[in-house]
Amino acid sequence: MINLHDIRYVYLGTRDLDSAVEFSTTMVGLQFARREGNRVYLRGDNRDHTLCYFEGDPADHTVGFELRTAAELDAAASELENGGHRVEWGTPEGCEMRRCQRYIAFRDPSGNRIELVWRPFDGSGRRYFPGRDAGITDFSHIGLCSTDPVRDEAFWTRVCNARVSDWIGAAPLLRIDEVHHKMALFPSKTPGVQHINHQVADFNDIMRAYYFLKERNVRIVFGPGRHPTSGAIFLYFEGPDGMVYEYSTGVKRITDETNHVPRQFPFTPEGFCMWGSKPDIPAFRD
Ligand SMILES: [Fe+2]
Repeated sequence: MINLHDIRYVYLGTRDLDSAVEFSTTMVGLQFARREGNRVYLRGDNRDHTLCYFEGDPADHTVGFELRTAAELDAAASELENGGHRVEWGTPEGCEMRRCQRYIAFRDPSGNRIELVWRPFDGSGRRYFPGRDAGITDFSHIGLCSTDPVRDEAFWTRVCNARVSDWIGAAPLLRIDEVHHKMALFPSKTPGVQHINHQVADFNDIMRAYYFLKERNVRIVFGPGRHPTSGAIFLYFEGPDGMVYEYSTGVKRITDETNHVPRQFPFTPEGFCMWGSKPDIPAFRD
């Protein structure tokens, strides 16, 4: 079994790198870490980087997860290959680009490009110092597109260590540690990252962001609201290339691993928000 330790980064292609970086820093509130050629590294917490925009196809998305040991990485490569996944070992240049010691890449059953990294770099003691004070505490989870959520749930929970915390319709919300979910699989015709979540310190940050973004004509696509699944208070808004960004706060932690029973919620606005907010997000609607 592949023991995913934590979600680490997202890489996103864009045709307009400058605009994507401008939005990420001045609206989302990420920190510009550095630019190298056609890539810009951004941080949402103390790690070296948690998001990277590069000049390329806006549909080209990669998600990185951290593994704890080199032996686990070797075992993951064998397990994936035995399961029929083509595994690509990272080159020294690839490791340098990702700021890690080693990594492998493969496609999940939907075709999402997933990377498993060993010893990704810390932020070298530099505090996360954001472009704006959005209250971000960390990059926390992603929504991932799935062409078959039942099949992909089996992959993430049987080949990997993910556990179902709850379902919304067929969409599983998956945890790999105590946090209610670090990824969620949403039905889609194509693969890709569906949304990117950053946790913020408290409810005030959600409401401040709502007014801040609205005033600057950023499209709010869902919320402010509260998820009945994780209990988190949320706000979703649209970023570059149609990517959905989310702030949330107060996500539930599942500490009683043995006795947790996943609950089923309807794939309706009520399944996503207990306050009555309605999503203007295609992946959250039938
Ligand atoms: Fe989310």
